[in-house]
Amino acid sequence: MATGKSTIGALVARAAERPFIDLDRVVESEAGASVESLFASRGESGFRALERSCLTRVLAEAEGAAQAPVIAVGGGALIARDLRLRALDECVVVSLEGTPAELARRALAQGPRPLLAGPDPVGRMRELLDLRAASYAEAHARISCEAPAERVAAEVRAVWERDELAVAVGESSYGVQIGRGFAHERVAALLKQSPACVLVSDRTVTSLHGEGMAKSINQAGTRTIHVELEPGEAHKNISSVEGIWRAALAGSADRQTTFVGFGGGVVTDMTGFAASTYMRGVRWLCVPTTLLAMVDASVGGKTGVDLESAKNAVGAFWQPGAVLCDVDFLQTEQRRGFVSGLAEVVKTALIGDRDLFLLLEQNAERVAEREPELCIELVRRSIRVKARIVSFDVRENGLRAVLNLGHTVGHALEAQAGFTALTHGEAVSLGLVAALRLGEALGQTPCELSERTVELLRRLGLPVELDARSLEAAAGLIGHDKKRAGTSIRFVFARELGRVETQPMPLNDLRTHLAALAK
Ligand SMILES: NC(=O)c1ccc[n+]([C@@H]2O[C@H](COP(=O)([O-])OP(=O)(O)OC[C@H]3O[C@@H](n4cnc5c(N)ncnc54)[C@H](O)[C@@H]3O)[C@@H](O)[C@H]2O)c1
Ligand SMILES: [Zn+2]
Repeated sequence: MATGKSTIGALVARAAERPFIDLDRVVESEAGASVESLFASRGESGFRALERSCLTRVLAEAEGAAQAPVIAVGGGALIARDLRLRALDECVVVSLEGTPAELARRALAQGPRPLLAGPDPVGRMRELLDLRAASYAEAHARISCEAPAERVAAEVRAVWERDELAVAVGESSYGVQIGRGFAHERVAALLKQSPACVLVSDRTVTSLHGEGMAKSINQAGTRTIHVELEPGEAHKNISSVEGIWRAALAGSADRQTTFVGFGGGVVTDMTGFAASTYMRGVRWLCVPTTLLAMVDASVGGKTGVDLESAKNAVGAFWQPGAVLCDVDFLQTEQRRGFVSGLAEVVKTALIGDRDLFLLLEQNAERVAEREPELCIELVRRSIRVKARIVSFDVRENGLRAVLNLGHTVGHALEAQAGFTALTHGEAVSLGLVAALRLGEALGQTPCELSERTVELLRRLGLPVELDARSLEAAAGLIGHDKKRAGTSIRFVFARELGRVETQPMPLNDLRTHLAALAK
């Protein structure tokens, strides 16, 4: 309220040569009455209902428009979470903010405000902002409106140009930026507020990409505490994390220090966990350098380490402050690792993005060659699906289970192969094939979908031949899946391109069905 959204929105639209829509004016012309009189005659809830239907229409029209418009919406328009998540998914959402005193002063200077009525308008404004804080925190960016309008508009445009994906998880929301050759500079910019950073990487990533990163951070004037881990899953344990804590302490890292996880999923999982616990929790940035770490590990806030043979047995939910996916790093990834990451991309396409599946089908060979523009598109689309799911289920209570497609059998195959013969992605590829075949046998998955997916996995260079002996052995291990609930698990079936369904299945039935598949 009174942040100057209409003025700033119009400035942004003019500079970007885009149409401008002021939602308040749309509502007024729809109702044939002013916002003030609508509040008076229909009350806040009546006004919100009208505002909601207008915004829904405006968003639908914007989606099909040749030129995306700039839309100014009031501070209450995106409080309903379903509408906010839709806007975050389809638009770049910027929240203009100010101090309660300044906003109340500006608002009352424009005339009476129903929401601020009463003896203490500043207190009322503070109350309103507190109530809405968690919603505003989910925006792509929060910008102070107290600078001159031209400057605020330029900041809004800069956010728009970064075109980040929003991971909406309340107060700990963050953005994911995807592109080429931008990570060094952006990390340095994001570290501006931090006097020091703990830069965690592994030996391989440091030798390939460490120099450029360290140089940019140095140039930005942030002191760097380097931590170089041994590469590989074998080192994903608490003693490596202790190494990060100790280096941070020795380097006098304090609560203002930002941790930067720069590497594959092993590095980013451990950096996030170290950050979640150091001084009871500090900010961290996630800069993944493998395809798997980009499309899967970077989003969702799961951090942690292995304990003995139990994968990710110890950890915490601790969201990064930002994720930067620079696909240039993927050029040096080992072929086997990159191709393994593609299994998660196919899984994600099956779960929630038909167009991603088609893109993979149309370009399988170019994808395997890691064409940068294609990599950007598939990383972006995969993360978008995961971000949507995570936003609805931050702590993995239900909906996130769909992300397990192919993983129930995949994990068992991975374990059966002693975690060495198969990479996680290869096991997921085989797990997907098993889940599809099982779905076919139980009348859940159309045969055509199975065939198409198997063919795609094969073209991408992933294994698709289910070996009867391994499958039988894996069937026996399935009960060890940590996601089981009692004696039955929620099995994820692919129903059509971009749509899955979970169904409870007794473990014994699942073992029997798998044994039958192995025949
Ligand atoms: N947090 C989550 O939600 C989540 C999701 C999926 C996977 N994970 C975790 O991610 C880990 C697997 O990730 P990963 O496959 O990235 O493993 P990784 O970090 O071990 O990286 C694989 C190998 O590639 C090397 N490497 C990394 N980037 C490189 C580059 N750009 N060029 C050349 N080599 C490079 C590494 O040094 C390492 O040897 C597992 O521990 C898994 O549990 C976490
Ligand atoms: Zn996986």
